[in-house]
Amino acid sequence: MRDMNDTTDPGAGGADFGAIAPHYVARARVQQRAAAQLFDLLGIGPHDAVLDLGCGPGHLTAKIRELTDGPVTGVDAAAGMIGEARRVYAGHDIAFRQASAAGLDDVAAFDRIFCNSALQWMKPAEPALAACHRALRPGGRMAVQAPATARYCPNFARAMERVARDRQTGPIFARFVSPWTLLESAQDYRALFEGQGFKVAAARMEMAMAGYAAGEALGVFDSGAAAAYLNPDCYPMHLPRGYAAAVRRIVHDALTEQATDGRVDLVFHRVYLLAEKP
Ligand SMILES: C[S@@+](CC[C@H](N)C(=O)[O-])C[C@H]1O[C@@H](n2cnc3c(N)ncnc32)[C@H](O)[C@@H]1O
Repeated sequence: MRDMNDTTDPGAGGADFGAIAPHYVARARVQQRAAAQLFDLLGIGPHDAVLDLGCGPGHLTAKIRELTDGPVTGVDAAAGMIGEARRVYAGHDIAFRQASAAGLDDVAAFDRIFCNSALQWMKPAEPALAACHRALRPGGRMAVQAPATARYCPNFARAMERVARDRQTGPIFARFVSPWTLLESAQDYRALFEGQGFKVAAARMEMAMAGYAAGEALGVFDSGAAAAYLNPDCYPMHLPRGYAAAVRRIVHDALTEQATDGRVDLVFHRVYLLAEKP
Protein backbone atom coordinates (compact mmCIF):
# COMPACT_ATOMS: atom_id res chain seq x y z
CA MET A 1 0.00 0.00 0.00
CA ARG A 2 1.27 3.49 -0.76
CA ASP A 3 1.81 5.89 2.06
CA MET A 4 -1.18 7.94 3.16
CA ASN A 5 0.83 11.08 2.58
CA ASP A 6 0.91 10.18 -1.08
CA THR A 7 -1.81 12.43 -2.41
CA THR A 8 -1.95 11.02 -5.92
CA ASP A 9 -5.37 9.52 -6.07
CA PRO A 10 -5.95 7.77 -9.39
CA GLY A 11 -9.54 8.15 -10.50
CA ALA A 12 -10.61 9.26 -7.05
CA GLY A 13 -14.21 10.13 -6.49
CA GLY A 14 -14.95 13.21 -4.44
CA ALA A 15 -15.60 13.36 -0.75
CA ASP A 16 -19.03 14.90 -1.11
CA PHE A 17 -21.94 14.94 -3.52
CA GLY A 18 -21.06 18.37 -4.88
CA ALA A 19 -17.70 17.07 -6.02
CA ILE A 20 -18.99 13.86 -7.59
CA ALA A 21 -21.91 15.51 -9.41
CA PRO A 22 -20.40 15.40 -12.93
CA HIS A 23 -19.60 11.64 -12.67
CA TYR A 24 -22.62 10.64 -10.64
CA VAL A 25 -25.02 9.37 -13.31
CA ALA A 26 -22.47 7.07 -14.93
CA ARG A 27 -21.66 5.47 -11.56
CA ALA A 28 -25.11 5.38 -10.00
CA ARG A 29 -26.35 2.18 -11.64
CA VAL A 30 -27.51 0.72 -8.33
CA GLN A 31 -29.64 3.77 -7.55
CA GLN A 32 -31.09 3.81 -11.07
CA ARG A 33 -32.24 0.17 -10.93
CA ALA A 34 -33.98 0.80 -7.63
CA ALA A 35 -35.57 3.97 -9.03
CA ALA A 36 -37.49 1.97 -11.64
CA GLN A 37 -39.35 0.17 -8.84
CA LEU A 38 -39.94 3.45 -7.05
CA PHE A 39 -41.69 4.96 -10.09
CA ASP A 40 -44.07 1.97 -10.09
CA LEU A 41 -44.74 2.35 -6.37
CA LEU A 42 -45.44 6.10 -6.47
CA GLY A 43 -47.71 6.17 -9.52
CA ILE A 44 -47.33 9.69 -10.93
CA GLY A 45 -50.53 11.00 -12.55
CA PRO A 46 -50.55 13.04 -15.78
CA HIS A 47 -51.24 16.37 -14.03
CA ASP A 48 -49.48 15.83 -10.69
CA ALA A 49 -47.23 18.46 -9.12
CA VAL A 50 -44.13 16.46 -8.21
CA LEU A 51 -41.11 17.06 -6.00
CA ASP A 52 -37.97 14.97 -6.54
CA LEU A 53 -36.29 15.16 -3.14
CA GLY A 54 -32.53 14.59 -3.09
CA CYS A 55 -32.66 14.85 -6.87
CA GLY A 56 -28.89 14.70 -7.43
CA PRO A 57 -27.97 15.79 -10.97
CA GLY A 58 -31.58 15.65 -12.13
CA HIS A 59 -31.62 12.55 -14.34
CA LEU A 60 -34.66 11.08 -12.53
CA THR A 61 -36.34 14.49 -12.28
CA ALA A 62 -36.15 14.60 -16.07
CA LYS A 63 -37.97 11.23 -16.21
CA ILE A 64 -40.64 12.65 -13.89
CA ARG A 65 -40.99 15.59 -16.30
CA GLU A 66 -42.03 13.12 -19.00
CA LEU A 67 -44.82 11.67 -16.82
CA THR A 68 -46.77 14.80 -15.88
CA ASP A 69 -47.69 18.17 -17.31
CA GLY A 70 -47.87 19.56 -13.76
CA PRO A 71 -45.02 21.52 -12.16
CA VAL A 72 -41.86 19.48 -11.45
CA THR A 73 -39.34 20.54 -8.82
CA GLY A 74 -35.97 19.01 -7.97
CA VAL A 75 -34.45 19.78 -4.57
CA ASP A 76 -31.00 18.78 -3.39
CA ALA A 77 -28.78 19.89 -0.54
CA ALA A 78 -25.60 19.87 -2.64
CA ALA A 79 -24.88 23.00 -4.68
CA GLY A 80 -22.77 20.94 -7.11
CA MET A 81 -25.67 18.60 -7.85
CA ILE A 82 -28.13 21.45 -8.42
CA GLY A 83 -25.59 23.25 -10.62
CA GLU A 84 -25.16 20.10 -12.72
CA ALA A 85 -28.93 19.54 -12.93
CA ARG A 86 -29.56 23.14 -14.04
CA ARG A 87 -26.80 22.87 -16.65
CA VAL A 88 -27.89 19.53 -18.13
CA TYR A 89 -31.66 20.12 -17.97
CA ALA A 90 -31.84 23.81 -18.85
CA GLY A 91 -34.98 24.35 -20.89
CA HIS A 92 -36.73 21.23 -19.53
CA ASP A 93 -39.22 23.25 -17.47
CA ILE A 94 -37.98 21.86 -14.14
CA ALA A 95 -37.42 24.11 -11.11
CA PHE A 96 -34.18 22.99 -9.45
CA ARG A 97 -33.54 24.39 -5.96
CA GLN A 98 -30.74 23.95 -3.48
CA ALA A 99 -32.23 23.19 -0.07
CA SER A 100 -32.04 20.55 2.59
CA ALA A 101 -35.16 18.44 3.05
CA ALA A 102 -35.70 19.81 6.56
CA GLY A 103 -35.49 23.34 5.13
CA LEU A 104 -38.30 22.87 2.60
CA ASP A 105 -40.72 25.76 3.02
CA ASP A 106 -43.41 24.58 0.59
CA VAL A 107 -46.91 24.17 2.02
CA ALA A 108 -49.47 21.89 0.36
CA ALA A 109 -47.65 22.37 -2.93
CA PHE A 110 -47.16 18.80 -4.22
CA ASP A 111 -49.29 15.77 -5.11
CA ARG A 112 -46.29 13.44 -5.12
CA ILE A 113 -42.85 13.36 -3.54
CA PHE A 114 -40.32 11.00 -5.11
CA CYS A 115 -37.26 10.29 -2.97
CA ASN A 116 -34.75 7.81 -4.37
CA SER A 117 -31.58 6.86 -2.50
CA ALA A 118 -31.58 10.05 -0.43
CA LEU A 119 -33.46 9.43 2.85
CA GLN A 120 -30.38 7.72 4.32
CA TRP A 121 -28.58 11.07 4.18
CA MET A 122 -31.28 12.84 6.20
CA LYS A 123 -30.23 12.62 9.81
CA PRO A 124 -32.18 13.13 11.88
CA ALA A 125 -34.92 12.08 9.47
CA GLU A 126 -37.86 13.42 11.50
CA PRO A 127 -37.55 17.14 10.56
CA ALA A 128 -37.10 16.18 6.90
CA LEU A 129 -40.26 14.06 6.94
CA ALA A 130 -42.21 16.73 8.81
CA ALA A 131 -41.28 19.20 6.05
CA CYS A 132 -42.36 16.68 3.40
CA HIS A 133 -45.68 16.18 5.18
CA ARG A 134 -46.24 19.96 5.16
CA ALA A 135 -45.26 20.20 1.50
CA LEU A 136 -47.81 17.58 0.37
CA ARG A 137 -51.44 18.31 -0.35
CA PRO A 138 -53.98 16.25 1.62
CA GLY A 139 -54.22 12.90 -0.14
CA GLY A 140 -50.73 13.44 -1.57
CA ARG A 141 -48.20 10.63 -1.55
CA MET A 142 -44.51 10.19 -0.89
CA ALA A 143 -42.51 7.17 -2.05
CA VAL A 144 -39.07 6.39 -0.72
CA GLN A 145 -36.40 3.93 -1.67
CA ALA A 146 -33.26 3.90 0.45
CA PRO A 147 -30.47 1.62 1.57
CA ALA A 148 -31.40 0.09 4.91
CA THR A 149 -29.85 -1.79 7.84
CA ALA A 150 -26.43 -1.11 9.36
CA ARG A 151 -24.86 -3.55 6.89
CA TYR A 152 -26.83 -2.13 3.96
CA CYS A 153 -24.12 -3.39 1.60
CA PRO A 154 -22.26 -6.29 3.21
CA ASN A 155 -19.52 -6.03 0.55
CA PHE A 156 -18.76 -2.44 1.55
CA ALA A 157 -19.08 -3.32 5.24
CA ARG A 158 -16.43 -6.05 4.83
CA ALA A 159 -14.18 -3.69 2.89
CA MET A 160 -14.52 -1.03 5.60
CA GLU A 161 -13.69 -3.62 8.24
CA ARG A 162 -10.38 -3.97 6.45
CA VAL A 163 -9.95 -0.18 6.51
CA ALA A 164 -10.60 -0.39 10.26
CA ARG A 165 -7.90 -3.06 10.71
CA ASP A 166 -5.30 -1.27 8.60
CA ARG A 167 -2.42 0.22 10.62
CA GLN A 168 -2.60 3.59 8.83
CA THR A 169 -6.29 4.09 8.16
CA GLY A 170 -7.66 2.23 11.20
CA PRO A 171 -7.04 4.88 13.89
CA ILE A 172 -8.64 7.55 11.70
CA PHE A 173 -11.61 5.47 10.61
CA ALA A 174 -12.25 4.63 14.28
CA ARG A 175 -13.40 8.24 14.65
CA PHE A 176 -15.81 8.16 11.67
CA VAL A 177 -19.22 9.54 12.64
CA SER A 178 -21.92 8.05 10.42
CA PRO A 179 -24.18 10.64 8.76
CA TRP A 180 -26.71 7.95 7.83
CA THR A 181 -30.20 7.06 8.91
CA LEU A 182 -30.25 3.28 8.44
CA LEU A 183 -33.10 1.45 10.16
CA GLU A 184 -33.26 -2.30 10.61
CA SER A 185 -36.80 -3.23 9.56
CA ALA A 186 -39.78 -2.16 7.46
CA GLN A 187 -41.65 -1.74 10.73
CA ASP A 188 -39.02 0.77 11.92
CA TYR A 189 -39.47 2.83 8.73
CA ARG A 190 -43.26 2.60 9.04
CA ALA A 191 -43.04 3.95 12.59
CA LEU A 192 -40.74 6.79 11.47
CA PHE A 193 -43.27 7.99 8.88
CA GLU A 194 -46.31 7.44 11.09
CA GLY A 195 -44.59 9.53 13.75
CA GLN A 196 -44.73 12.50 11.34
CA GLY A 197 -48.43 12.08 10.55
CA PHE A 198 -48.24 9.89 7.44
CA LYS A 199 -50.42 6.89 6.79
CA VAL A 200 -48.14 4.16 5.46
CA ALA A 201 -49.71 2.22 2.58
CA ALA A 202 -46.77 -0.14 1.98
CA ALA A 203 -43.35 -0.79 3.50
CA ARG A 204 -41.06 -3.63 2.55
CA MET A 205 -37.40 -4.54 2.68
CA GLU A 206 -35.64 -6.04 -0.30
CA MET A 207 -32.29 -7.66 -0.85
CA ALA A 208 -30.94 -7.15 -4.36
CA MET A 209 -27.75 -8.50 -5.88
CA ALA A 210 -25.98 -7.41 -9.05
CA GLY A 211 -22.66 -8.41 -10.58
CA TYR A 212 -19.95 -5.84 -11.34
CA ALA A 213 -16.35 -5.86 -12.46
CA ALA A 214 -14.18 -4.85 -9.47
CA GLY A 215 -13.47 -1.42 -10.96
CA GLU A 216 -17.17 -0.83 -11.53
CA ALA A 217 -17.92 -1.89 -7.95
CA LEU A 218 -15.53 0.82 -6.78
CA GLY A 219 -17.54 3.24 -8.93
CA VAL A 220 -20.67 2.15 -7.05
CA PHE A 221 -18.82 2.82 -3.79
CA ASP A 222 -17.87 6.27 -5.10
CA SER A 223 -21.46 7.10 -6.07
CA GLY A 224 -22.73 6.88 -2.49
CA ALA A 225 -20.79 5.35 0.38
CA ALA A 226 -17.63 7.34 -0.36
CA ALA A 227 -19.54 10.58 0.16
CA ALA A 228 -19.64 9.63 3.85
CA TYR A 229 -16.49 7.55 4.46
CA LEU A 230 -14.28 10.07 2.65
CA ASN A 231 -16.08 13.19 3.79
CA PRO A 232 -14.05 15.39 6.18
CA ASP A 233 -17.33 16.51 7.77
CA CYS A 234 -17.82 12.95 9.06
CA TYR A 235 -14.68 13.10 11.20
CA PRO A 236 -14.13 15.25 14.28
CA MET A 237 -10.57 16.14 13.23
CA HIS A 238 -8.63 17.08 10.10
CA LEU A 239 -8.09 14.15 7.76
CA PRO A 240 -4.47 13.53 6.85
CA ARG A 241 -3.65 14.09 3.20
CA GLY A 242 -3.91 10.82 1.36
CA TYR A 243 -6.48 9.21 3.68
CA ALA A 244 -9.12 9.14 0.94
CA ALA A 245 -6.67 7.58 -1.52
CA ALA A 246 -5.62 4.96 1.04
CA VAL A 247 -9.22 4.04 1.87
CA ARG A 248 -10.15 3.75 -1.79
CA ARG A 249 -7.14 1.54 -2.45
CA ILE A 250 -8.07 -0.79 0.41
CA VAL A 251 -11.70 -0.88 -0.70
CA HIS A 252 -10.64 -1.60 -4.27
CA ASP A 253 -8.39 -4.46 -3.11
CA ALA A 254 -11.12 -5.86 -0.86
CA LEU A 255 -13.71 -5.75 -3.64
CA THR A 256 -11.23 -7.36 -6.04
CA GLU A 257 -10.72 -10.20 -3.56
CA GLN A 258 -14.47 -10.65 -3.26
CA ALA A 259 -14.66 -11.20 -7.03
CA THR A 260 -15.15 -14.55 -8.71
CA ASP A 261 -14.01 -14.69 -12.33
CA GLY A 262 -13.45 -10.93 -12.14
CA ARG A 263 -17.00 -10.11 -11.00
CA VAL A 264 -18.22 -9.01 -7.60
CA ASP A 265 -21.80 -9.67 -6.58
CA LEU A 266 -22.78 -6.51 -4.70
CA VAL A 267 -25.63 -7.08 -2.27
CA PHE A 268 -27.86 -4.21 -1.16
CA HIS A 269 -30.58 -4.17 1.47
CA ARG A 270 -33.20 -1.56 0.66
CA VAL A 271 -36.47 -0.26 1.96
CA TYR A 272 -39.38 0.69 -0.30
CA LEU A 273 -42.11 2.68 1.35
CA LEU A 274 -45.25 4.45 0.18
CA ALA A 275 -46.88 6.95 2.53
CA GLU A 276 -49.93 9.18 2.23
CA LYS A 277 -50.81 12.48 3.87
CA PRO A 278 -54.36 11.85 5.14
C1 LIG B 1 -27.26 8.90 -3.70
S1 LIG B 1 -27.77 10.50 -4.22
C2 LIG B 1 -29.32 10.13 -5.03
C3 LIG B 1 -29.59 11.04 -6.17
C4 LIG B 1 -30.81 10.63 -7.00
N1 LIG B 1 -32.03 10.76 -6.24
C5 LIG B 1 -30.66 9.21 -7.53
O1 LIG B 1 -31.48 8.35 -7.16
O2 LIG B 1 -29.73 8.93 -8.29
C6 LIG B 1 -28.32 11.29 -2.72
C7 LIG B 1 -28.61 12.76 -2.92
O3 LIG B 1 -29.26 13.24 -1.74
C8 LIG B 1 -28.78 14.55 -1.50
N2 LIG B 1 -29.03 14.88 -0.10
C9 LIG B 1 -28.37 14.42 0.98
N3 LIG B 1 -28.89 14.91 2.11
C10 LIG B 1 -29.91 15.70 1.74
C11 LIG B 1 -30.85 16.49 2.47
N4 LIG B 1 -30.83 16.54 3.80
N5 LIG B 1 -31.77 17.20 1.77
C12 LIG B 1 -31.79 17.15 0.40
N6 LIG B 1 -30.93 16.41 -0.32
C13 LIG B 1 -30.00 15.69 0.33
C14 LIG B 1 -27.33 14.49 -1.87
O4 LIG B 1 -26.77 15.77 -2.10
C15 LIG B 1 -27.37 13.60 -3.10
O5 LIG B 1 -27.46 14.35 -4.29
